[in-house]
Amino acid sequence: MTRDVDAVRGSFSSKFGIIAAAAGSAIGLGNIWRFPYVLGESGGGAFLLVYLLFVLSIGIPVMLSEFIIGRSTQMNPYGAFKKLAPRQPWFIVGIMGVIAAFMILAFYGAVGGWTLEYFFKSVVNQFSGKSSNEISQIFEGFRSNSYRPLLWQVVFMGLTFLIVVAGIEKGIEKYSKILMPILLILLIIIAIRSVSLPSFSEKLNPGAGLKFLFKPDFSKLNAKVIFDALGQSFFSLSIGMGALITYGSYIRKNDNLGSSAMIISLSDTFIAVLAGIAIFPAVFALGFDPQSGEGLVFKILPAIFQNMHGGYYISILFFICLSVAALTSSISLLEVVVTTFVEEFKITRRKASIIAASLITILGAICALSWYTFKGFGIDTLDESTGQMVHFNFFMILDYIALKFLLPIGGLFIVIYLGWFHGKKNVMKELSNQGVLKVGYYHLFMFLVRFVAPVAIAIVFLNETGLLKLG
Ligand code: PFF
Repeated sequence: MTRDVDAVRGSFSSKFGIIAAAAGSAIGLGNIWRFPYVLGESGGGAFLLVYLLFVLSIGIPVMLSEFIIGRSTQMNPYGAFKKLAPRQPWFIVGIMGVIAAFMILAFYGAVGGWTLEYFFKSVVNQFSGKSSNEISQIFEGFRSNSYRPLLWQVVFMGLTFLIVVAGIEKGIEKYSKILMPILLILLIIIAIRSVSLPSFSEKLNPGAGLKFLFKPDFSKLNAKVIFDALGQSFFSLSIGMGALITYGSYIRKNDNLGSSAMIISLSDTFIAVLAGIAIFPAVFALGFDPQSGEGLVFKILPAIFQNMHGGYYISILFFICLSVAALTSSISLLEVVVTTFVEEFKITRRKASIIAASLITILGAICALSWYTFKGFGIDTLDESTGQMVHFNFFMILDYIALKFLLPIGGLFIVIYLGWFHGKKNVMKELSNQGVLKVGYYHLFMFLVRFVAPVAIAIVFLNETGLLKLG
């Protein structure tokens, strides 16, 4: 039976296959682009602390729950819930997941496009001899260009489409196996350089960046920091929308789900923290503002490369690896939509990929041009902390809705389902591979999915909406 399913739907060729593929989904722009800029805007070390707590108490349990649901049903998220709980509204989780994938991939494709542009800029050595200020201007100039962000977004989406059409095995494993380790080594090299950069100002403490990252300033801890950390942890781990239900359906019956979820979550978190170590010392040493928003890493990294031996080559290699890391994540997003379309509408993979990729690319075009053509398209709100009006463009709105609402709410339902409705025996069967493996962490896991994770997510929401006031 297992064999048949594997033969029809395909499964990963080895344990390393699923870990590499799911880690490929998790590790991407979320770690290297989004984590540093959100941390910079939202509390520094205090954010990091809350983030780590969320990964351990909510992230890992949600990831493991998705693997269990995916492998036991062998279906897309929507179909999985239809199969597990027929005539009950759980399938809405699957629908929310597809909507989240649409939204996330729309803006993710735009940032993937920025990465490609930066690969190109590295090749033509555009940053050579430029000051920090000029490097920042280059980013702003590019982002508000009339066509370049769109051009690269389309290229990025085209690549995502081609890999997904080619099929899951061939598409994913090949790339992540070689390039992820290189990305890791490059990040370590960049971190070492960042930490050792001489400070632009005599007055500045040399450890300012590391202190900002690792020393929590609890006076900065507020509802926004906690809400940001929750959304970021879900986004970075690729959880809450069924991407890992889809990947879970490709995991072989004798792979260990618990250790896989642990390895993937911890490596994802390690890479994010490493990106922080690569970015923040340089932010302070080179006189950048940690609150530079979405442009933060695209401004800092070229500045660091300018201060490095072999920076020209390292920069090229880095942006190639980052593009591939972004692709291994974007394909998992597209995969959610495509697998659902194929299985639910009974259309071919090719057709499903064309429809999904085209629609998302159109939505993404608005994101890519959110600093030019669609600049005024958005919402103006009052930032309570500064008392100033801020403009949320389309890109930011999609990011906000998906990360702050769809993913955590999806995750909430996933753990509630698993903890309270899936049945303890079924959970145990899946975790132990039908009784083969010992599951020493079973009680801890059940406690986390039944109580800790749902309550924590609910508290964060109540706190954010002001219904509950923490501290
Ligand atoms: N986790 C990816 C990243 O950190 O870049 C982004 C992502 C992929 C989010 C897949 C959600 C998802 F389903």
